[in-house]
Amino acid sequence: MTDGEDDTAGDAPAGSDAADGTGEHAAAGGTAVRRDRFSGGPARGFMSSLDADRRIFAADLAVSRAHVVMLAEQGIVDADDAGAILGALADVEAAGHADLPAAEDVHEAIETAVIGRVGPEGGRMHTARSRNDEVAACIRYRLREDLLDALETVVGAREQLLVVADEHTETLLPGFTHLQYAQPVTVAHWVGSYEAALARDTERLLAAYDRTNRSPLGAAAFAGTPFDVDRERTADLLGFDSVLDNSMDAVSTRDFLVETTSALATLSATLSGLAEDLVVYSSRDYLTISDDYASTSSIMPQKKNPDTLELVRATAGEATGALGGLLTTLKSLPRSYNIDLQEATPHAWRAIDAVPEALEVATGALATADWNEGVLAAEASAGFSTATGVADRLAMAGVPFRTAHEVVATAATRLEGDPDLAVLEAAAEEVLGESLTEYVDRETLAATLEPTGSVAMRDSRGGPAPEAVAASLDRAREEVAADRSALSGHREAVADAATRRDEEVETYV
Ligand code: ARG
Repeated sequence: MTDGEDDTAGDAPAGSDAADGTGEHAAAGGTAVRRDRFSGGPARGFMSSLDADRRIFAADLAVSRAHVVMLAEQGIVDADDAGAILGALADVEAAGHADLPAAEDVHEAIETAVIGRVGPEGGRMHTARSRNDEVAACIRYRLREDLLDALETVVGAREQLLVVADEHTETLLPGFTHLQYAQPVTVAHWVGSYEAALARDTERLLAAYDRTNRSPLGAAAFAGTPFDVDRERTADLLGFDSVLDNSMDAVSTRDFLVETTSALATLSATLSGLAEDLVVYSSRDYLTISDDYASTSSIMPQKKNPDTLELVRATAGEATGALGGLLTTLKSLPRSYNIDLQEATPHAWRAIDAVPEALEVATGALATADWNEGVLAAEASAGFSTATGVADRLAMAGVPFRTAHEVVATAATRLEGDPDLAVLEAAAEEVLGESLTEYVDRETLAATLEPTGSVAMRDSRGGPAPEAVAASLDRAREEVAADRSALSGHREAVADAATRRDEEVETYV
């Protein structure tokens, strides 16, 4: 081993002391993967990922078990040695990550611990693999779990949003563009807009899952192995859908981390908008945030601040930073393995830890908030926000839309206070040279000036009219159900693979 390069080992060397990692890990007990020469010296802590690798400890045990079972099935390692190694892995698992010997990383530490229990024959577990394919498999294995949890959160959030929407198909809400009163909508329509975005986030995360769930094992350091490995078999024992064919690609790529982090950053950007809407709405008294999601001031006794939502809004900074950090780390990395990759992974963990949690908080805050319907009804017509509806109504009655726009625009400049029919009629006489009632009767016009009537008109597909929203919500419920079942399918496949693996391991120990 030179230059820190991790070669495909035949039999692992039974050296003396382990390279000392950081943290509280015990000094290795005698047998080690490395020789004294590569102890790491003063940079030992700098080089070690052992503490950060806690997250992939369980993944490594699964990956190592699948690998050893395959080695035994292929006759590369005999059944007795496989049994001893698999037995030692169970001990290592029971002892936990904290009990691992000091080492450069969790892979080396586990191997050292196995050799410590089994003796030199334990070193056969690293036959036909390298830490390079091992770590890539571990990250994918762990990320897969995290992705399923993230998907669970996103799908759960969509279900909660649909419940809120269902309750508020008639609750008016002022709609804004440029944060200026624009047209009235309903709370359900606004909630549905976020559910729709989360539906696409679900698609993105599912796509990232598909590309994460592929096996790099058997690629070894990057150049394959002379052993007759069965890559499909290890993939199957780990529940990976397929094998990453090119061995150099298999160890080099972290594109699955980019896709995942990008999907999460995208979600977090949407989420920050949702949080901002809620912060604005609560400042305008459109809704009252539950005390559980609010905070007060240490000096201003009357204050109730939407702190949780501001923190949700800030999560976009964390996720976007993680994506930038990840891509910047990966940029210009030559083929094949470079240990920069070790520093790439935590960026993705940061995003996957932060974003689903923030989504849960935002959804909880929204689901428990009280919408102040009186304030909303009054606000829904503020700023002559029914103007577009009136212009539409005239256009539907035969006035060219641009002319109708001019009639209503003229009225808008004359209005003092609430819109009224008289001002509209005067504007029509001026612009059209004829009475409005030639086109639309007064009752219809009066209804159009009301936010409820204005909303009810806008019944195009996906629009805010209560029946249109109800139809959208039905479609959304079907999609959520389909996504939920895709999610349980993935969970079952992972659980089945774990059962298959356990059963195979049982036959050796
Ligand atoms: N701990 C490393 C990582 O996270 C894997 C070790 C491979 N190291 C090496 N020098 N080839 O990527």
